[in-house]
Amino acid sequence: MAELDITKVDKIYHSRKGDVHAVKALDLVVKPGEIVALLGSSGCGKTSTLRMIAGFEEVSNGSITLGGKPIHTLPPAARGVAMAFEAYSLYPPLTIGENMSFALKASKLPQAEQDRRVKAMAEMLEIADILNKYPTSVSGGQQQRASLGRALVRDAGLYLLDEPMGQLEPQLRAVLRGRIKHYLREHNCTTILVTHDQTEANALADRIAVMEGGVLQQYATPAELKAKPANLFTGTFIGEPPMNVFTADVKANGETVAFTVEGGATLSYPAADFSPQLREALARNPRIALGIRPHALHLGEGAVKGKVVACQWLGDQTHVAVDVAGRTVVSVSQERVARAPGSDVALKVAARDLHLFDPASGKAIAHGDALA
Ligand SMILES: Nc1ncnc2c1ncn2[C@@H]1O[C@H](COP(=O)(O)OP(=O)(O)OP(=O)(O)O)[C@@H](O)[C@H]1O
Ligand SMILES: [Mg+2]
Repeated sequence: MAELDITKVDKIYHSRKGDVHAVKALDLVVKPGEIVALLGSSGCGKTSTLRMIAGFEEVSNGSITLGGKPIHTLPPAARGVAMAFEAYSLYPPLTIGENMSFALKASKLPQAEQDRRVKAMAEMLEIADILNKYPTSVSGGQQQRASLGRALVRDAGLYLLDEPMGQLEPQLRAVLRGRIKHYLREHNCTTILVTHDQTEANALADRIAVMEGGVLQQYATPAELKAKPANLFTGTFIGEPPMNVFTADVKANGETVAFTVEGGATLSYPAADFSPQLREALARNPRIALGIRPHALHLGEGAVKGKVVACQWLGDQTHVAVDVAGRTVVSVSQERVARAPGSDVALKVAARDLHLFDPASGKAIAHGDALA
C-alpha cells in the first residue's frame, strides 16, 4: 500500500460564464492503509478532488504522487486507482455481476478467483441476488452498491469512494458501514471516502479532511475535530446540534476572567481556570467569538438568562432551545427535562468547555484552559 501526497493542488474550471476555482492550494497526505473522509457541504470541491486524483480531471496547479511516483500526468488507467463514482456509472449492457467483474478481467487473476471475489463482495453488500440483472432493472441503492463493489474488488493502490452509500436507507447504511470498514482494514486499503454525513465520516475514517469553498479547513482525527476545531467553520460544522457562538467582550485581570456576551450577561471565572499564556492572549483580544457546544451548555443556576423557545425529548436526550437576548441557543441534556415554552431559564458553562475564536479571522485562540 502506498502513501498519497497531494501538494498545492488547484482546480479551476473555465467556462463561458467565468472561472470556478473549485479546489484551492490543497495539501493532503494519506498514509498507507489510512482511511480518510473528505467532509463538506455541497459544492465545496470533494468530487473535483477525487476526480483529479483518479485522473478524470486535470490538476490546474500542483502535484499528486502515489507511493512517491507522480501520477497527476498519467492517464486514469495507469494510476492504479479504483474509484466508485457518485453517479454509479455502470455499463448498461452488462449485468450487475459483469459490471463488478469487469475491471478484474484485465487483472490476469484466475477466473475462479475472479468469481470468488465478486460473489464475496456481492454478499458483503447484499446484492448477491441481483448479479444476473441489468442496471436499469434494479434500484438506485442497488446500483450504488454494485458501483462500490466494482471498485472494491479490484487490487488498487488507492480507493476513492464518492458518497458510496448516499442512496441507502439508514439501517442498511449502518450495517454496511461496519462491514466496509472491516474490509478496508483487512485488505489494508488506502482510501478516501467522500461524504457529507458526519456520522459516516466519524465511524469510518481515521482522519477527516473538512473542506469549505474549495479550501481545506482542518485535517484531523474525529476526536480532535470535536475537541479542538481550528476555526469557527469547523467548530460550527462538526457536532450535532451545532456549536452555539456568542460575540463576547473579555476582561481579564489577576483574579477573574469575564466574558460579557450579547445582551449583557457576564460569564465570570477565576483566573486560575485559564493558563497564564491564555490570559495574556485574552489581554490582546478584548473581543472574541465564544463557542459553546450544546452538550456543555447546562440549564440551571447561571449568569446567562433566557426564555425557553422549545423543549424536545428525543428518546435519549433533551434539546432545549433558549432565546438569549434575541438569539436562539441550544442546550442538550442527557436527562429528560420538561420546560414550558416562555419560561425563564439560566444557563451555565464550565471554563474547560469554552472555545475561543478570533471574530475577524475565525481562527481558534483557545480550547478550554489552554491556547489552541
Ligand atoms: N465541470 C465543471 N465545470 C464547471 N464547474 C464545475 C464543474 N464541476 C464542478 N464544478 C463546480 O466546482 C465546484 C465544486 O464542485 P464539486 O462537484 O467538486 O463539489 P462537491 O463537494 O463534490 O459537491 P456535492 O456534495 O454536491 O457532490 C462547484 O461550484 C461546482 O459547481
Ligand atoms: Mg460531489
